Amino acid sequence: MEQFKPDVNGFYGEFGGAFVPEMLYPNVQELQHNYLEIISSKSFQEEFHALLNDYVGRPTPLYFSKNLSAQFNAQIYLKREDLCHTGAHKINNTIGQILLAKRLGKQKIIAETGAGQHGVATATACALMNMECCIYMGDIDIARQQPNVERMQLLGATVVASTSGSKTLKDATNDAIRAWINNPTDTHYIIGSVVGPHPYPDMVSIFQSVISKEIQFQLQEKINRNYPDYVIACVGGGSNAMGAFYHFIDNKKTTLIAVEAAGNGIQTNKTAATIALGKKGIIHGSKTYLIQTEDGQIIEPHSISAGLDYPGIGPAHAYLHDSTKSSVVSITDDEAIQAAFDLSKKEGIIPALETAHALAYLHKMQFKKDDVVVVNLSGRGDKDMLTYKKYL
Ligand SMILES: Cc1ncc(COP(=O)(O)O)c(C=O)c1O
Repeated sequence: MEQFKPDVNGFYGEFGGAFVPEMLYPNVQELQHNYLEIISSKSFQEEFHALLNDYVGRPTPLYFSKNLSAQFNAQIYLKREDLCHTGAHKINNTIGQILLAKRLGKQKIIAETGAGQHGVATATACALMNMECCIYMGDIDIARQQPNVERMQLLGATVVASTSGSKTLKDATNDAIRAWINNPTDTHYIIGSVVGPHPYPDMVSIFQSVISKEIQFQLQEKINRNYPDYVIACVGGGSNAMGAFYHFIDNKKTTLIAVEAAGNGIQTNKTAATIALGKKGIIHGSKTYLIQTEDGQIIEPHSISAGLDYPGIGPAHAYLHDSTKSSVVSITDDEAIQAAFDLSKKEGIIPALETAHALAYLHKMQFKKDDVVVVNLSGRGDKDMLTYKKYL
């Protein structure tokens, strides 16, 4: 179906794989054996694309920003994933996974969430498909992304607080995996990014690849050329970046830039810049880079943005980075806040704090006037008003 694939065991080079406790083998193997056949079937594709079009609101616009283009002296386009139903790219994946879960005969859904966007997108898909839904979310994230907690509850989901570790995304993921071990047969775990054991990184990449597919035909329509010079996207686990990169990975004319969260700065110990500081290891079922101590203990990450506050990165991004097919850079909390305020005032678009990291990187680039730049606007900022208010 698509060209950028791991090997049969889920490895991108040396990264990826499926390092799971024995109790999870049946679930993970069931997915590994069935996902490609199910999602490439005609009936799945028809149902998936009908929902993406009529329920999610795809294709999302590729908006040419005159103001940013003038400011940065380049041709700047914003891929408006913020205009998806529920306000972020996350729903592309949850619609795909819920259709898969139905076909596997599952009755219950569990998921982790950081910013709450994946939790809301999962709760939405569950409401649509009449599935029971339980979302794990770190205590700190419950406080800083309050509007999304209430949305999940309104949609009928149970939100369970994760109170261990840094009480953020990593800890919510640990709890979701634990819950899956306890309910192996009737439950599907909808992972929200290109992380986790094989086949999740590949499966989520395929569902999100609709983003770059649309960029291709939208650029063709607008500028008679189907690729940009640059794609810039923020990276937590890496799903919006992978979706925006996917169809350009083998195009040497396109530079792929993944922006991770530096938090207070990569020289401080309050950061989530995994590629900048991480070493190889295993987290949540796959081999990748992660921020850890000399003896392999995970260092609690920090980012002002709940969705980027994660000590690992999807294995495909680790591979793209090591093979120099992408550049991974970082942006601090303060730079992200500034970029969010700039876009709000200059374009009338309030971006998510995660997305603001990608926007902030525009300031660090030197473009030529004709360069075509696509920034993936992964989500809208309503959920971040509590944080933005502090800087008004
Ligand atoms: C709007 C938005 N952008 C980006 C992310 C980061 O996730 P990923 O790297 O998987 O795209 C999140 C995560 O919650 C998000 O809500």
